[in-house]
Amino acid sequence: MPTDPKQYQESLLPWSRWKHAILIEYLKAMSAIMRSWESIFYVDGFAGPGKYTKDDAIGSPVLAAKHAQELARTNAQYALQCINVELDNCVFQNLERSTTQYSDYVTNRHGDFGQYVAEILGIIGDKPTLFFLDPIGLKGLEWQALLPIFHRDAKTELLIRFDAQTATRLTGNEESLHSTFNSILGEDSSDYWLKCVASYDDGAQRKRDRLTKAYEDKLIKHFPYVGRIPILSSDDALKYYLLFATKSLKGMQVMNDVCFATQGLRDRTLDAERKEAGIGQQMSFFDLNPEDEILRELKALKQAVLVELEEVDSTVRDELRGLVASRADNFGRFSGSQFTAVLGGRPRSLSVPKEFENLKARIQIHNGLTPGNDKVEISLMR
Ligand SMILES: C[S@@+](CC[C@H](N)C(=O)[O-])C[C@H]1O[C@@H](n2cnc3c(N)ncnc32)[C@H](O)[C@@H]1O
Repeated sequence: MPTDPKQYQESLLPWSRWKHAILIEYLKAMSAIMRSWESIFYVDGFAGPGKYTKDDAIGSPVLAAKHAQELARTNAQYALQCINVELDNCVFQNLERSTTQYSDYVTNRHGDFGQYVAEILGIIGDKPTLFFLDPIGLKGLEWQALLPIFHRDAKTELLIRFDAQTATRLTGNEESLHSTFNSILGEDSSDYWLKCVASYDDGAQRKRDRLTKAYEDKLIKHFPYVGRIPILSSDDALKYYLLFATKSLKGMQVMNDVCFATQGLRDRTLDAERKEAGIGQQMSFFDLNPEDEILRELKALKQAVLVELEEVDSTVRDELRGLVASRADNFGRFSGSQFTAVLGGRPRSLSVPKEFENLKARIQIHNGLTPGNDKVEISLMR
């Protein structure tokens, strides 16, 4: 992956298409949910070019600006305002050029994101805001610089690119690098993460997992719900994680659905890239047939639902979905239809295997609503 921003702004990397789909679909859903507010903010802290110079693909600041323009064009009762920050001079000029036509909805700032945090917090006031923090590597994510954002009382959601590869490198044998990682975590010494990394010989993926978990554990102190989205390349290598942090179960549920709904785009993009690179897709001997696969997914989801219901007297469907999404590896992995099926409903868009229908017991539906209704009350038959 290029690390020089000038190189970076040439072409959109294939796996970034999924990142953009997640970002923009979530922004659309979130702004619609927050429509009772007159205005909503989107802050792109590491904005990059508005337009990639070689392939003309558009970047995150222009995607968001287009949505802001669309809302204004359709006379939506609420407005989306976008604030972008970009450090690199040449990339910033590109950003300015590509957002000129959206100047009613866009404010650009040139420099280090951390230096603009105070000004941005002043501009956004108490308005709901989605922060997209998408640096190259981890530089720029220093904990102290982001802390005022984490402390906001107002509705705040974050989508952060966490480069687990860089985290692993920063915690390697060379101690001179450790202080950089400490400052990302907001720790004075390496004691915090040292205990997460069992040994320097730990397998690479385990080490990336543990360091990401160490960062998530810190985020969770400010945002009770954190979801992890792995962004992979066509050879199945982990590029980075997108971490979604929110105080709201609804936000968790919506982002879960966005990730699930955009998986098709991710798969198509990566398949096209594999084809171009001549990487074949091998069928595993153990691949399940589609019906068995649905059954396996539904059983796993049902198990996750039962675990959550054990913890509460009763809850409503959209909260339960948020809770399930916020646990372990569930995030982004199940759809609303699958959830309805698990609650005993018959979603139109999913053919539920007979064998699963016989497993419905133990989930009770109250208040006369159907299992597909967000406000249906659910409890466990004890
Ligand atoms: C990965 S690119 C952003 C891509 C863009 N978000 C998108 O999805 O289209 C990261 C950008 O952050 C910029 N950058 C790096 N450090 C920064 C900092 N401290 N403050 C603001 N921008 C920074 C880089 O110059 C680069 O253009």
